[in-house]
Amino acid sequence: MTAAPSLPRAEEPAGRAPPVLSKNRPGLGHLLELRRAPIELFWRVREECGDVGEMSFAGNRVVLFTGEKAQEAFFRAPDEQLDQAAAYPFMTPVFGKGVVFDGTPEQRKQAMKNQSLRDSYMRGHAEVIAHEVRGMLDTLGDEGEIDLLDFFSELTLYTSSACLIGKQFRSELTRDYFPIFYDLEKGTDAIAYVNAHLPLPVFWTRDRARRKLVSLLEGVFERRKDAPPEQRELFDILLNLRDEQGRPRYTVDQVTGMFISLMFAGHHTTSGTAAWSLIEFLKHPEHHARIVDEIDALHASGDGVSYQSLRELPRLEAGLKEALRLHPPLILLMRKVMYDFHYDGFTVPAGKLVGVSPAVSNRLPECFPDPDRFDPARYDEGRDEDRQNFAWIPFGAGRHRCVGAAFAMMQLKTIFCVLLREYELELAQPPESYRNDHSKMVVQLEQPCRARYRRRG
Ligand code: HEM
Repeated sequence: MTAAPSLPRAEEPAGRAPPVLSKNRPGLGHLLELRRAPIELFWRVREECGDVGEMSFAGNRVVLFTGEKAQEAFFRAPDEQLDQAAAYPFMTPVFGKGVVFDGTPEQRKQAMKNQSLRDSYMRGHAEVIAHEVRGMLDTLGDEGEIDLLDFFSELTLYTSSACLIGKQFRSELTRDYFPIFYDLEKGTDAIAYVNAHLPLPVFWTRDRARRKLVSLLEGVFERRKDAPPEQRELFDILLNLRDEQGRPRYTVDQVTGMFISLMFAGHHTTSGTAAWSLIEFLKHPEHHARIVDEIDALHASGDGVSYQSLRELPRLEAGLKEALRLHPPLILLMRKVMYDFHYDGFTVPAGKLVGVSPAVSNRLPECFPDPDRFDPARYDEGRDEDRQNFAWIPFGAGRHRCVGAAFAMMQLKTIFCVLLREYELELAQPPESYRNDHSKMVVQLEQPCRARYRRRG
């Protein structure tokens, strides 16, 4: 839509320092605002400072880039200049020490792509996911109420582990696991910018949850020790690896870290999107009815839920895209500046952080007319608003764009194909009472967030 910005070069002459946002409190900077109302904070940067403006999180200075052109410069910068791994200090205690897989983030991403996200695997995944959804629905009975956060969190823990790690491993996971995952996700408090090991209840809970996970997984691995070779999956193999001295190559603690890191990127993101999609569908009955018709037609055609048939659901797909636009689960993407980053007369020196906010970008009025309106027709031919690659960014953009995006969309479609075929749902609270809890860097729905269901006749 706009002209491509010139790529920043290290040898460019230094430009101006980006303007600093007001209300920069001594010591904490804007940290309290970040924990209370992050999206409002990011909009305040844009309104006060323009496309480039600086916030401070307890001494960590973060320059926020907003607007399609500035965001494009961020996403196009090479890894050597804007480093992703160094920018998320609140994740290190969650993953654990000496983790994760050997190798660079790029190698890990490639490994993930090769192992479980290839097109050929995707076909099998659709069936596995449908099976997991039916398993959860079997526990619901004919009518009742669910908490959307609990329901989708549990479901996506099972679907992600079955698809990304293996069905045998998944069969070991019980309901005990998902509160642990919650506690880990809740442990991503922005206070970690001050110190991720401060003696605070939220960090104690995080560390306790991690220890509990290690001990549960120890039991799983112990039980699986004698599994026949044809039933061995990723973690059985890793735990059996030996170094030259014949000692185990990885400890259970390290494999737990691998489990968390494999699951983390796809778990809260997908479960939050499933919940918000359902909320938006139920708030917009006319669109909801069209989605249900589309799903019923798919079942009537005898195709059932398969990777192929899922491609033919434009109304559902547009609804999901619109829920992702309005409620992106990752609201701030960050990088650490490794050498001076220049953009539009500004210079961000090495050592600072830079960020882009999908929550701001997805509602830029110049890119998305009537931006707060749930309008799935945005994705109709001729409008194609998701084709603005550096503005419609629920999955990020550029070299670090989400590797799980196709898997996530397939998973979400499968969930709704089964759920809406079997049940009628309605919101059990006033529509405006559903909101996100932004007090942690991993955004979750605020509870209660309930919906009523009744089996379809
Ligand atoms: C609705 C669901 C999802 C959303 C909204 C989402 C969003 C994102 C975003 C915004 C990024 C870019 C992060 C950045 O630039 O710093 C990202 C990266 C990533 N996502 Fe997802 N994600 C989702 C599901 C998944 C799933 C299911 C998986 C795995 C199966 C996954 C694996 C990854 C990985 C490995 C990266 C890192 C890519 C890299 O650094 O190059 N995501 N995701």
